[in-house]
Amino acid sequence: MSLFIKKPLEQLLAQAGDSEKGGLKRTLGAANLVALGIGAIIGAGLFVRTAAAAGQAAGPAVTLSFIVAAIGCAFAGLCYAEFAAMIPIAGSAYAYSYVTMGEFVAWTIGWALIMEYALGAATVSIAWSEYLNKLLDNRIPYEWCHAPAESFTDSAGVLHQGMVNAPALIILLALTLLLIKGTSESAFVNAIIVFIKVSIVLIFIFVGWKFINPANHTPYMIPEGTPAVTDSAGKVIADYSGVFKHGWGGVLGGAAIVFFAFIGFDAVSTAAQEAKNPKRDMPIGILGSLVVCTILYILFGHVLTGVANWQDFVDPEKGREASVAYAITTYMHGYGWLSTAVTVAILAGFSSVILVMLLGQSRVFYTMSGDGLIPKVFSELHPKFKTPYKANWILFVFVGLFAAFVPGHVAGDLTSFGTLFAFVLVSVGVWILRMKSPNIERPFRSPLSSPTLPLVPILGAVICTGMIVALDITTLKVAFGWMLLGFVVYFLYSRKHSNLRKGK
Ligand code: ALA
Repeated sequence: MSLFIKKPLEQLLAQAGDSEKGGLKRTLGAANLVALGIGAIIGAGLFVRTAAAAGQAAGPAVTLSFIVAAIGCAFAGLCYAEFAAMIPIAGSAYAYSYVTMGEFVAWTIGWALIMEYALGAATVSIAWSEYLNKLLDNRIPYEWCHAPAESFTDSAGVLHQGMVNAPALIILLALTLLLIKGTSESAFVNAIIVFIKVSIVLIFIFVGWKFINPANHTPYMIPEGTPAVTDSAGKVIADYSGVFKHGWGGVLGGAAIVFFAFIGFDAVSTAAQEAKNPKRDMPIGILGSLVVCTILYILFGHVLTGVANWQDFVDPEKGREASVAYAITTYMHGYGWLSTAVTVAILAGFSSVILVMLLGQSRVFYTMSGDGLIPKVFSELHPKFKTPYKANWILFVFVGLFAAFVPGHVAGDLTSFGTLFAFVLVSVGVWILRMKSPNIERPFRSPLSSPTLPLVPILGAVICTGMIVALDITTLKVAFGWMLLGFVVYFLYSRKHSNLRKGK
Protein backbone atom coordinates (compact mmCIF):
# COMPACT_ATOMS: atom_id res chain seq x y z
CA MET A 1 0.00 0.00 0.00
CA SER A 2 1.24 3.48 -0.83
CA LEU A 3 3.37 5.43 1.58
CA PHE A 4 1.17 8.38 0.78
CA ILE A 5 -2.16 6.86 1.75
CA LYS A 6 -4.41 9.78 2.72
CA LYS A 7 -7.01 10.04 5.39
CA PRO A 8 -10.31 11.12 3.80
CA LEU A 9 -11.25 14.62 4.92
CA GLU A 10 -14.78 13.46 5.77
CA GLN A 11 -13.35 10.87 8.20
CA LEU A 12 -11.24 13.51 9.89
CA LEU A 13 -14.16 15.89 10.22
CA ALA A 14 -16.26 13.08 11.66
CA GLN A 15 -13.51 12.40 14.23
CA ALA A 16 -13.50 16.06 15.23
CA GLY A 17 -17.28 15.93 15.60
CA ASP A 18 -16.97 12.87 17.85
CA SER A 19 -15.17 14.87 20.47
CA GLU A 20 -18.39 15.68 22.28
CA LYS A 21 -18.95 11.96 22.83
CA GLY A 22 -16.48 11.24 25.61
CA GLY A 23 -13.45 12.88 24.03
CA LEU A 24 -11.66 16.14 24.74
CA LYS A 25 -14.06 18.78 26.08
CA ARG A 26 -14.87 21.94 24.10
CA THR A 27 -14.20 24.59 26.73
CA LEU A 28 -12.16 27.35 25.07
CA GLY A 29 -13.59 30.61 23.70
CA ALA A 30 -11.96 33.23 21.43
CA ALA A 31 -10.43 35.19 24.32
CA ASN A 32 -8.98 31.99 25.82
CA LEU A 33 -7.46 31.13 22.47
CA VAL A 34 -5.85 34.56 21.98
CA ALA A 35 -4.50 34.29 25.55
CA LEU A 36 -3.24 30.79 24.80
CA GLY A 37 -1.36 32.18 21.80
CA ILE A 38 0.13 35.10 23.74
CA GLY A 39 0.97 32.63 26.51
CA ALA A 40 3.07 30.60 24.12
CA ILE A 41 4.57 33.52 22.24
CA ILE A 42 5.98 36.08 24.70
CA GLY A 43 9.00 34.57 26.42
CA ALA A 44 12.75 34.27 25.98
CA GLY A 45 12.50 35.59 22.44
CA LEU A 46 11.35 39.04 23.56
CA PHE A 47 13.22 39.37 26.83
CA VAL A 48 16.54 37.91 25.69
CA ARG A 49 16.77 37.94 21.91
CA THR A 50 15.66 41.54 21.25
CA ALA A 51 18.90 42.88 22.71
CA ALA A 52 20.94 40.13 21.04
CA ALA A 53 19.51 41.01 17.62
CA ALA A 54 20.10 44.75 18.21
CA GLY A 55 23.66 44.21 19.39
CA GLN A 56 24.72 41.68 16.78
CA ALA A 57 22.97 42.65 13.57
CA ALA A 58 20.19 45.21 13.47
CA GLY A 59 20.95 48.02 15.94
CA PRO A 60 17.84 50.12 16.75
CA ALA A 61 16.30 48.75 13.53
CA VAL A 62 15.47 45.60 15.50
CA THR A 63 11.96 47.07 15.27
CA LEU A 64 12.11 46.42 11.51
CA SER A 65 13.48 42.93 12.20
CA PHE A 66 10.35 42.24 14.21
CA ILE A 67 8.23 43.40 11.28
CA VAL A 68 10.10 41.12 8.83
CA ALA A 69 9.84 38.08 11.14
CA ALA A 70 6.16 38.85 11.74
CA ILE A 71 5.46 38.97 7.99
CA GLY A 72 7.09 35.54 7.58
CA CYS A 73 5.00 34.19 10.46
CA ALA A 74 1.84 35.89 9.19
CA PHE A 75 1.95 33.90 5.94
CA ALA A 76 2.22 30.67 7.90
CA GLY A 77 -0.34 31.96 10.43
CA LEU A 78 -2.91 32.61 7.70
CA CYS A 79 -2.41 29.05 6.41
CA TYR A 80 -2.78 27.63 9.92
CA ALA A 81 -5.95 29.68 10.36
CA GLU A 82 -7.42 28.35 7.11
CA PHE A 83 -6.71 24.76 8.11
CA ALA A 84 -7.67 25.05 11.78
CA ALA A 85 -11.08 26.56 10.93
CA MET A 86 -11.69 23.94 8.25
CA ILE A 87 -10.42 20.90 10.21
CA PRO A 88 -10.89 21.66 13.91
CA ILE A 89 -9.02 18.65 15.24
CA ALA A 90 -6.30 18.43 17.86
CA GLY A 91 -3.31 17.35 15.78
CA SER A 92 -2.51 20.65 14.03
CA ALA A 93 0.03 20.42 11.20
CA TYR A 94 0.18 16.65 11.60
CA ALA A 95 -3.56 16.20 11.05
CA TYR A 96 -3.64 18.62 8.10
CA SER A 97 -0.88 16.79 6.26
CA TYR A 98 -2.56 13.42 6.80
CA VAL A 99 -5.41 14.61 4.58
CA THR A 100 -3.40 16.50 2.02
CA MET A 101 -0.05 14.76 1.63
CA GLY A 102 -0.60 11.35 3.11
CA GLU A 103 0.49 9.26 6.06
CA PHE A 104 4.24 9.32 5.57
CA VAL A 105 4.42 13.11 5.33
CA ALA A 106 2.03 13.36 8.28
CA TRP A 107 4.28 11.09 10.31
CA THR A 108 7.32 13.14 9.32
CA ILE A 109 5.67 16.35 10.43
CA GLY A 110 4.40 14.79 13.67
CA TRP A 111 7.94 13.68 14.41
CA ALA A 112 9.30 17.17 13.59
CA LEU A 113 6.69 18.76 15.85
CA ILE A 114 8.25 16.87 18.77
CA MET A 115 11.29 19.06 18.14
CA GLU A 116 9.19 22.20 18.26
CA TYR A 117 7.01 21.47 21.26
CA ALA A 118 8.86 18.95 23.46
CA LEU A 119 12.33 20.40 22.91
CA GLY A 120 10.85 23.90 23.00
CA ALA A 121 9.42 23.15 26.45
CA ALA A 122 12.78 21.72 27.57
CA THR A 123 14.71 24.77 26.30
CA VAL A 124 12.43 27.24 28.01
CA SER A 125 12.40 25.27 31.29
CA ILE A 126 16.21 25.47 31.33
CA ALA A 127 15.99 29.25 30.78
CA TRP A 128 13.39 29.39 33.58
CA SER A 129 15.85 27.72 35.92
CA GLU A 130 18.55 30.30 35.04
CA TYR A 131 16.25 33.24 35.75
CA LEU A 132 14.99 31.72 39.00
CA ASN A 133 18.57 31.47 40.17
CA LYS A 134 19.15 35.09 39.14
CA LEU A 135 16.12 36.17 41.15
CA LEU A 136 17.48 34.22 44.15
CA ASP A 137 20.95 35.83 43.77
CA ASN A 138 22.51 32.54 42.65
CA ARG A 139 21.66 30.75 45.88
CA ILE A 140 20.93 27.45 44.11
CA PRO A 141 24.23 25.50 43.99
CA TYR A 142 25.64 25.29 40.45
CA GLU A 143 25.61 21.48 40.60
CA TRP A 144 21.83 21.42 41.14
CA CYS A 145 20.83 23.74 38.33
CA HIS A 146 23.07 22.66 35.45
CA ALA A 147 23.41 19.67 33.15
CA PRO A 148 26.34 17.22 33.63
CA ALA A 149 28.01 18.51 30.44
CA GLU A 150 28.31 22.00 31.95
CA SER A 151 31.05 23.14 34.32
CA PHE A 152 32.57 26.36 35.61
CA THR A 153 35.58 27.38 37.73
CA ASP A 154 34.84 30.03 40.34
CA SER A 155 37.13 32.90 41.36
CA ALA A 156 38.65 30.68 44.13
CA GLY A 157 39.69 28.18 41.46
CA VAL A 158 37.10 25.56 42.51
CA LEU A 159 35.66 23.52 39.65
CA HIS A 160 31.88 23.12 39.72
CA GLN A 161 30.38 20.34 37.62
CA GLY A 162 26.67 20.30 36.80
CA MET A 163 24.67 17.26 37.95
CA VAL A 164 21.00 17.83 37.30
CA ASN A 165 18.88 20.85 36.48
CA ALA A 166 16.44 20.43 39.36
CA PRO A 167 14.47 23.73 39.03
CA ALA A 168 13.76 22.91 35.36
CA LEU A 169 12.33 19.56 36.46
CA ILE A 170 10.24 21.17 39.18
CA ILE A 171 8.56 23.69 36.85
CA LEU A 172 7.87 20.91 34.34
CA LEU A 173 6.30 18.76 37.05
CA ALA A 174 4.10 21.60 38.30
CA LEU A 175 2.84 22.41 34.82
CA THR A 176 2.29 18.74 33.96
CA LEU A 177 0.07 18.39 37.04
CA LEU A 178 -1.87 21.49 36.00
CA LEU A 179 -2.39 20.14 32.49
CA ILE A 180 -3.66 16.84 33.83
CA LYS A 181 -6.13 18.68 36.06
CA GLY A 182 -7.84 20.14 33.01
CA THR A 183 -7.61 22.31 29.93
CA SER A 184 -9.90 25.04 31.23
CA GLU A 185 -7.95 25.17 34.53
CA SER A 186 -4.74 25.40 32.52
CA ALA A 187 -6.28 28.10 30.33
CA PHE A 188 -7.27 30.02 33.48
CA VAL A 189 -3.77 29.92 34.97
CA ASN A 190 -2.39 30.81 31.54
CA ALA A 191 -4.70 33.85 31.39
CA ILE A 192 -3.42 35.11 34.76
CA ILE A 193 0.18 34.68 33.64
CA VAL A 194 -0.54 36.43 30.35
CA PHE A 195 -2.09 39.33 32.26
CA ILE A 196 1.04 39.66 34.43
CA LYS A 197 3.54 39.49 31.61
CA VAL A 198 1.64 41.77 29.22
CA SER A 199 1.14 44.32 32.04
CA ILE A 200 4.84 44.42 32.77
CA VAL A 201 5.73 44.72 29.10
CA LEU A 202 3.26 47.64 28.84
CA ILE A 203 4.63 49.30 31.98
CA PHE A 204 8.16 49.03 30.57
CA ILE A 205 6.99 50.60 27.30
CA PHE A 206 5.08 53.48 28.97
CA VAL A 207 7.65 54.27 31.65
CA GLY A 208 10.64 53.68 29.37
CA TRP A 209 9.24 55.99 26.67
CA LYS A 210 10.12 59.01 28.85
CA PHE A 211 13.72 57.82 29.08
CA ILE A 212 14.31 57.40 25.35
CA ASN A 213 17.41 59.28 24.26
CA PRO A 214 16.88 60.11 20.54
CA ALA A 215 20.66 60.00 20.00
CA ASN A 216 20.51 56.23 20.60
CA HIS A 217 18.29 55.87 17.54
CA THR A 218 20.74 57.60 15.18
CA PRO A 219 21.87 56.08 12.91
CA TYR A 220 18.93 53.69 12.89
CA MET A 221 20.83 50.77 11.33
CA ILE A 222 24.34 49.55 12.07
CA PRO A 223 26.55 51.47 9.58
CA GLU A 224 28.80 49.66 7.14
CA GLY A 225 32.40 49.65 8.36
CA THR A 226 31.48 49.43 12.05
CA PRO A 227 34.57 47.90 13.70
CA ALA A 228 34.38 44.45 15.31
CA VAL A 229 34.14 44.31 19.10
CA THR A 230 36.58 42.21 21.15
CA ASP A 231 36.54 41.13 24.78
CA SER A 232 39.35 41.87 27.24
CA ALA A 233 41.24 38.77 26.05
CA GLY A 234 41.09 40.04 22.45
CA LYS A 235 38.50 37.49 21.30
CA VAL A 236 36.04 38.84 18.71
CA ILE A 237 32.53 38.90 20.19
CA ALA A 238 30.74 40.85 17.46
CA ASP A 239 31.80 41.28 13.85
CA TYR A 240 29.76 43.56 11.60
CA SER A 241 31.45 42.85 8.26
CA GLY A 242 29.02 40.14 7.00
CA VAL A 243 26.04 40.89 4.73
CA PHE A 244 23.56 40.08 7.48
CA LYS A 245 25.41 42.10 10.12
CA HIS A 246 24.77 45.72 9.16
CA GLY A 247 22.36 47.92 7.24
CA TRP A 248 19.29 46.31 5.66
CA GLY A 249 21.05 42.94 5.65
CA GLY A 250 21.40 43.34 9.40
CA VAL A 251 17.64 43.84 9.62
CA LEU A 252 17.22 40.40 8.01
CA GLY A 253 19.92 38.87 10.23
CA GLY A 254 18.05 40.33 13.21
CA ALA A 255 14.80 38.82 11.93
CA ALA A 256 16.34 35.33 12.01
CA ILE A 257 17.41 35.92 15.62
CA VAL A 258 14.01 37.23 16.79
CA PHE A 259 12.04 34.57 14.87
CA PHE A 260 12.18 32.51 18.06
CA ALA A 261 10.08 35.21 19.74
CA PHE A 262 7.12 34.36 17.49
CA ILE A 263 7.21 30.59 17.91
CA GLY A 264 4.07 29.42 19.62
CA PHE A 265 1.15 31.05 17.80
CA ASP A 266 0.67 27.78 15.92
CA ALA A 267 0.17 26.00 19.25
CA VAL A 268 -3.31 27.55 19.29
CA SER A 269 -4.23 25.22 16.45
CA THR A 270 -3.41 22.14 18.55
CA ALA A 271 -6.29 23.10 20.84
CA ALA A 272 -8.79 23.24 17.96
CA GLN A 273 -10.64 20.21 19.30
CA GLU A 274 -11.20 21.99 22.59
CA ALA A 275 -12.48 25.23 21.00
CA LYS A 276 -16.17 26.00 21.49
CA ASN A 277 -16.59 27.56 18.06
CA PRO A 278 -13.49 26.63 16.07
CA LYS A 279 -14.71 27.92 12.72
CA ARG A 280 -14.86 31.48 13.96
CA ASP A 281 -12.44 31.42 16.89
CA MET A 282 -9.43 29.57 15.45
CA PRO A 283 -8.51 32.37 13.01
CA ILE A 284 -9.13 34.93 15.79
CA GLY A 285 -6.90 32.99 18.21
CA ILE A 286 -4.04 32.42 15.81
CA LEU A 287 -3.96 35.77 14.01
CA GLY A 288 -5.11 37.83 17.01
CA SER A 289 -2.26 36.63 19.22
CA LEU A 290 0.21 37.21 16.41
CA VAL A 291 -0.97 40.80 15.86
CA VAL A 292 -1.01 41.69 19.58
CA CYS A 293 2.50 40.32 20.08
CA THR A 294 3.91 41.99 16.97
CA ILE A 295 2.71 45.42 18.16
CA LEU A 296 4.10 44.84 21.66
CA TYR A 297 7.43 43.63 20.25
CA ILE A 298 7.95 46.65 18.00
CA LEU A 299 7.18 49.09 20.82
CA PHE A 300 9.37 47.13 23.22
CA GLY A 301 12.30 47.08 20.76
CA HIS A 302 11.87 50.82 20.14
CA VAL A 303 12.00 51.64 23.86
CA LEU A 304 14.80 49.22 24.74
CA THR A 305 17.14 50.55 22.03
CA GLY A 306 16.14 54.12 22.90
CA VAL A 307 16.79 53.81 26.62
CA ALA A 308 20.12 52.00 26.22
CA ASN A 309 22.46 52.21 23.24
CA TRP A 310 22.54 49.07 21.09
CA GLN A 311 26.30 48.91 21.65
CA ASP A 312 25.64 48.27 25.35
CA PHE A 313 24.10 44.95 24.32
CA VAL A 314 27.40 43.73 22.90
CA ASP A 315 29.56 44.48 25.91
CA PRO A 316 29.73 41.56 28.41
CA GLU A 317 30.47 44.10 31.17
CA LYS A 318 27.26 45.98 30.35
CA GLY A 319 23.96 44.75 28.98
CA ARG A 320 24.91 41.65 27.00
CA GLU A 321 23.13 39.50 29.58
CA ALA A 322 19.92 40.41 31.40
CA SER A 323 19.65 43.30 28.95
CA VAL A 324 16.27 44.61 30.06
CA ALA A 325 17.25 44.70 33.73
CA TYR A 326 20.50 46.40 32.72
CA ALA A 327 18.71 49.11 30.72
CA ILE A 328 16.36 49.84 33.63
CA THR A 329 18.95 49.95 36.42
CA THR A 330 21.46 51.94 34.38
CA TYR A 331 19.28 54.49 32.63
CA MET A 332 15.85 54.59 34.28
CA HIS A 333 16.72 56.04 37.66
CA GLY A 334 14.10 55.56 40.34
CA TYR A 335 12.64 52.46 38.69
CA GLY A 336 14.78 49.73 40.27
CA TRP A 337 11.59 47.88 41.26
CA LEU A 338 10.71 47.55 37.59
CA SER A 339 13.86 45.53 37.04
CA THR A 340 12.71 42.93 39.63
CA ALA A 341 9.20 43.04 38.15
CA VAL A 342 10.66 42.30 34.71
CA THR A 343 12.44 39.23 36.10
CA VAL A 344 9.16 38.05 37.64
CA ALA A 345 7.42 38.68 34.28
CA ILE A 346 10.12 36.67 32.57
CA LEU A 347 9.61 33.74 34.95
CA ALA A 348 5.85 33.97 34.49
CA GLY A 349 6.29 34.34 30.74
CA PHE A 350 8.49 31.29 30.50
CA SER A 351 6.00 29.23 32.55
CA SER A 352 3.16 29.90 30.13
CA VAL A 353 5.38 29.18 27.12
CA ILE A 354 6.23 25.79 28.66
CA LEU A 355 2.58 25.18 29.55
CA VAL A 356 1.30 25.74 26.03
CA MET A 357 4.16 23.79 24.45
CA LEU A 358 3.39 20.79 26.69
CA LEU A 359 -0.31 21.15 25.91
CA GLY A 360 0.44 21.27 22.17
CA GLN A 361 2.71 18.24 22.27
CA SER A 362 0.27 16.09 24.21
CA ARG A 363 -2.51 16.99 21.74
CA VAL A 364 -0.34 16.06 18.76
CA PHE A 365 0.46 12.74 20.46
CA TYR A 366 -3.26 12.28 21.20
CA THR A 367 -4.16 12.55 17.54
CA MET A 368 -1.25 10.40 16.30
CA SER A 369 -2.20 7.73 18.81
CA GLY A 370 -5.84 7.84 17.74
CA ASP A 371 -4.57 7.03 14.25
CA GLY A 372 -2.56 4.07 15.57
CA LEU A 373 0.81 5.55 14.58
CA ILE A 374 2.00 5.64 18.18
CA PRO A 375 0.76 3.43 21.04
CA LYS A 376 -2.77 3.75 22.44
CA VAL A 377 -1.55 4.90 25.82
CA PHE A 378 -1.04 8.40 24.35
CA SER A 379 -4.74 8.88 23.74
CA GLU A 380 -6.18 7.44 26.94
CA LEU A 381 -8.16 10.12 28.73
CA HIS A 382 -8.38 10.57 32.47
CA PRO A 383 -11.80 9.26 33.56
CA LYS A 384 -12.63 12.43 35.48
CA PHE A 385 -10.51 15.25 34.04
CA LYS A 386 -10.87 14.16 30.39
CA THR A 387 -7.24 15.04 29.66
CA PRO A 388 -4.67 12.68 28.07
CA TYR A 389 -2.95 12.21 31.42
CA LYS A 390 -0.77 9.25 30.48
CA ALA A 391 0.59 11.20 27.52
CA ASN A 392 1.28 14.08 29.90
CA TRP A 393 3.28 11.82 32.22
CA ILE A 394 5.29 10.22 29.43
CA LEU A 395 5.98 13.67 28.05
CA PHE A 396 7.13 14.85 31.48
CA VAL A 397 9.71 12.04 31.56
CA PHE A 398 10.89 12.72 28.00
CA VAL A 399 11.08 16.52 28.29
CA GLY A 400 12.43 16.19 31.84
CA LEU A 401 15.39 14.09 30.66
CA PHE A 402 16.35 16.85 28.22
CA ALA A 403 15.73 19.63 30.70
CA ALA A 404 17.67 17.95 33.50
CA PHE A 405 20.65 16.63 31.61
CA VAL A 406 21.13 18.56 28.34
CA PRO A 407 22.49 22.14 28.01
CA GLY A 408 19.91 24.71 26.86
CA HIS A 409 21.47 25.91 23.60
CA VAL A 410 21.45 22.39 22.12
CA ALA A 411 17.66 22.23 22.20
CA GLY A 412 17.02 25.89 21.18
CA ASP A 413 17.87 25.85 17.47
CA LEU A 414 16.22 22.47 16.98
CA THR A 415 13.01 24.13 18.16
CA SER A 416 13.29 26.66 15.31
CA PHE A 417 13.93 23.85 12.81
CA GLY A 418 10.88 21.85 13.90
CA THR A 419 8.70 24.96 13.75
CA LEU A 420 9.85 26.12 10.33
CA PHE A 421 9.52 22.62 8.92
CA ALA A 422 5.92 22.47 10.12
CA PHE A 423 5.25 25.94 8.65
CA VAL A 424 6.51 24.82 5.23
CA LEU A 425 4.37 21.69 5.18
CA VAL A 426 1.26 23.52 6.38
CA SER A 427 1.71 26.15 3.66
CA VAL A 428 2.19 23.49 0.99
CA GLY A 429 -0.79 21.57 2.39
CA VAL A 430 -3.13 24.57 2.04
CA TRP A 431 -2.02 24.94 -1.55
CA ILE A 432 -2.58 21.25 -2.35
CA LEU A 433 -6.01 21.20 -0.76
CA ARG A 434 -7.05 24.37 -2.60
CA MET A 435 -6.25 22.67 -5.88
CA LYS A 436 -7.65 19.24 -5.09
CA SER A 437 -10.73 20.12 -3.10
CA PRO A 438 -11.65 23.67 -4.06
CA ASN A 439 -15.24 23.29 -2.92
CA ILE A 440 -14.86 22.22 0.72
CA GLU A 441 -16.40 24.70 3.11
CA ARG A 442 -13.62 27.06 4.20
CA PRO A 443 -14.86 29.30 7.03
CA PHE A 444 -11.61 31.24 6.69
CA ARG A 445 -9.52 31.75 3.54
CA SER A 446 -6.01 33.15 3.42
CA PRO A 447 -6.21 36.35 1.35
CA LEU A 448 -4.54 37.26 -1.97
CA SER A 449 -5.05 33.83 -3.41
CA SER A 450 -6.98 32.27 -6.22
CA PRO A 451 -7.34 28.48 -6.38
CA THR A 452 -4.62 28.24 -9.02
CA LEU A 453 -2.22 30.77 -7.55
CA PRO A 454 -2.54 30.90 -3.76
CA LEU A 455 0.03 33.60 -3.08
CA VAL A 456 0.09 33.44 0.72
CA PRO A 457 0.86 29.69 0.99
CA ILE A 458 3.53 29.91 -1.71
CA LEU A 459 5.26 32.87 -0.06
CA GLY A 460 4.94 31.17 3.33
CA ALA A 461 6.66 28.02 2.05
CA VAL A 462 9.44 29.95 0.31
CA ILE A 463 10.25 32.27 3.22
CA CYS A 464 10.25 29.48 5.79
CA THR A 465 12.43 27.24 3.59
CA GLY A 466 14.86 30.16 3.31
CA MET A 467 14.99 30.45 7.10
CA ILE A 468 15.66 26.68 7.43
CA VAL A 469 18.58 26.95 5.01
CA ALA A 470 19.97 29.81 7.09
CA LEU A 471 20.14 27.66 10.25
CA ASP A 472 23.61 26.50 11.29
CA ILE A 473 24.94 23.26 9.88
CA THR A 474 25.20 21.43 13.23
CA THR A 475 21.51 22.05 13.89
CA LEU A 476 20.65 20.75 10.44
CA LYS A 477 22.74 17.60 11.00
CA VAL A 478 21.14 16.82 14.37
CA ALA A 479 17.68 17.51 12.93
CA PHE A 480 18.46 15.16 10.05
CA GLY A 481 19.52 12.44 12.53
CA TRP A 482 16.27 12.93 14.48
CA MET A 483 14.22 12.64 11.29
CA LEU A 484 16.08 9.42 10.30
CA LEU A 485 15.25 7.93 13.70
CA GLY A 486 11.63 8.87 13.02
CA PHE A 487 11.66 6.97 9.72
CA VAL A 488 12.99 3.85 11.51
CA VAL A 489 10.15 4.08 14.04
CA TYR A 490 7.65 4.56 11.22
CA PHE A 491 8.70 1.48 9.29
CA LEU A 492 9.16 -0.74 12.36
CA TYR A 493 6.03 0.28 14.23
CA SER A 494 3.67 2.91 12.88
CA ARG A 495 3.12 1.55 9.38
CA LYS A 496 2.09 -1.82 10.82
CA HIS A 497 -0.28 -0.30 13.37
CA SER A 498 -1.84 2.42 11.25
CA ASN A 499 -5.63 2.35 11.65
CA LEU A 500 -6.09 3.76 8.18
CA ARG A 501 -4.17 0.83 6.69
CA LYS A 502 -6.17 -1.61 8.77
CA GLY A 503 -9.29 -0.06 7.27
CA LYS A 504 -10.49 1.24 10.66
N1 ALA B 1 8.14 32.42 21.56
C1 ALA B 1 8.58 31.70 22.71
C2 ALA B 1 9.60 32.45 23.45
O1 ALA B 1 10.00 33.50 23.01
C3 ALA B 1 9.09 30.35 22.33
O2 ALA B 1 10.01 32.00 24.51
